[in-house]
Amino acid sequence: MEKALANHPDKIKWNEKYSRVFRKEFIPHPILESIKNLSLPSAPVLELACGLSGNVLELASLGYRVLAVDISDVALDLLANQLKEKQLEPRVSLLIEDLNNWQAPKETFSLVLGIKYWDRKCFLNACQAVIKGGIIAWETFNKNHLCYHPHFHPEWCLEKGEPANLLTSDFEILIEQDVDNGFSSTHRLIARRL
Ligand SMILES: C[S@@+](CC[C@H](N)C(=O)[O-])C[C@H]1O[C@@H](n2cnc3c(N)ncnc32)[C@H](O)[C@@H]1O
Repeated sequence: MEKALANHPDKIKWNEKYSRVFRKEFIPHPILESIKNLSLPSAPVLELACGLSGNVLELASLGYRVLAVDISDVALDLLANQLKEKQLEPRVSLLIEDLNNWQAPKETFSLVLGIKYWDRKCFLNACQAVIKGGIIAWETFNKNHLCYHPHFHPEWCLEKGEPANLLTSDFEILIEQDVDNGFSSTHRLIARRL
């Protein structure tokens, strides 16, 4: 599979970006603080488009089994080194996949997390991967982000109402808010599958 993705433009682009990052930082995303206050059923956690994910490290250190998916083998190698250093390897599986095509197993995960990545089909699949009582947590750029970064692709931004309006009726919204830190603008959604 890795071979089949070798010439994928997203892989080339992100491998280049991650190779250029001078300080490789693995900082948990603030959304995790809200998630840690919620009860989660007993099942593994999935992070999509994880990159250099501090969330994976944090969740694994809390005892969760984690599957982390990204197209960039450079990012996943760097993450693997961190997991080894912290002796968290046994709890985490890393998977190189193209999220435009990869389908997460249905009704398998207690938490599915997506940060700063947007693809509608991927989000719909992510929701299907959540078990009853589990959580979908997604935060990515909204259109206000274009005020800070005019050259950012509008199609990488959420439309008004998204992603909440894509949820099926078996999800209950727990948190929905815009997050603006003065240099980027995102929209956060946390919902539980009933
Ligand atoms: C903006 S970064 C966000 C990374 C991480 N979630 C974070 O918050 O720092 C986007 C991530 O999506 C991944 N990505 C881009 N296109 C992808 C694809 N088609 N399939 C899987 N991952 C992809 C990139 O490798 C990168 O890690």
